[in-house]
Amino acid sequence: MVSYSELGFVNTKKMFKDAMDKGYAVPAYNFNNMEQLQAIVTACTRTQSPVILQVSKGARNYANQTLLRWMGQGAVEFMKEIASNENLKEIPIAMHLDHGDSFELCKSCVDMGFSSVMIDGSHLPYDENVSITKQVVDYAHKFDVSVEGELGVLAGIEDDVKAEKSTYTDPNAVEDFVSKTGVDSLAIAIGTSHGAYKFKVKEGEMPPPLRFDILKEIEKRLPGFPIVLHGSSSVLQEYVQLINKYGGNLEGAVGVPEDQLRRAAKSAVCKINIDSDGRLVMTAKVREVLWTKPKEFDPRKYLGPARDELIKMYERKNREVLGSAFKV
Ligand code: G3H
Ligand code: 13P
Ligand code: ZN
Repeated sequence: MVSYSELGFVNTKKMFKDAMDKGYAVPAYNFNNMEQLQAIVTACTRTQSPVILQVSKGARNYANQTLLRWMGQGAVEFMKEIASNENLKEIPIAMHLDHGDSFELCKSCVDMGFSSVMIDGSHLPYDENVSITKQVVDYAHKFDVSVEGELGVLAGIEDDVKAEKSTYTDPNAVEDFVSKTGVDSLAIAIGTSHGAYKFKVKEGEMPPPLRFDILKEIEKRLPGFPIVLHGSSSVLQEYVQLINKYGGNLEGAVGVPEDQLRRAAKSAVCKINIDSDGRLVMTAKVREVLWTKPKEFDPRKYLGPARDELIKMYERKNREVLGSAFKV
């Protein structure tokens, strides 16, 4: 059992209170490798933004759970070094399990020193979601680890977002869920979805707007309670175009417009999850280098430019979309 505070992490309690008070959202960026982690920490330290480092079950399988945890710990030391060298304040960093799907996985992350875990029972019948979420909360709270739960199912590409009302979070259920489980934050479904193909739209058409009416109803039922948005990549078209230009094929990739996220960040939405945008940036730059410099074979020569571009993208997100820059 390792205590997250010994590793230099914080839980999300103070982060979310500050985000709520000041009308911004804390970025929750996923990482699976060193370059993504370096970029997230560099961008968030330079823009003086709190950050939630997200690790999925898939990331643990890909990179090894022990190595990832040590990378998270290393990220705190790396942040301190940047802050000291560049005369900046140190930023709060939370280490979070993204989409935990079992009590055992959540417990393993708590025991390894994560400061926050998500138990995603959103696909389960309501009572089972309540039951597994409460089980995780009861364990995690013994160690002051934050817990995120989820109600409502995020739409996928196959769903007709406008028609499938049942996939949105039911505002009538949120009070009951939060009081029965004791979660610290709640992920909701208001029209975002995971991945790079969020909406089926015709050329020149805008994706359907997020359901701010549902968000408002939820805020009424849970005043001052931290809300989380998953599936919040904007699928930045400049990178989609670069990928397609240099041999890729991501036709029809569409995300959530950034102005919608900016609006959400000013509300009770305190955490915004972004993974796919980072994947797109990385793929675009790696493709560009390999395509334009076919003799290149040193990974530092293509992962380095990808990392530099990621830093730019995350800095801009913090400043222009989440509003989290210069809030520490
Ligand atoms: O919401 C899911 C995240 O983008 C993580 O994706 O499970 O492929 O690591 P992953
Ligand atoms: P995107 O696929 O939109 O980046 O969503 C990421 C996410 O929700 C991670 O939990
Ligand atoms: Zn998610």
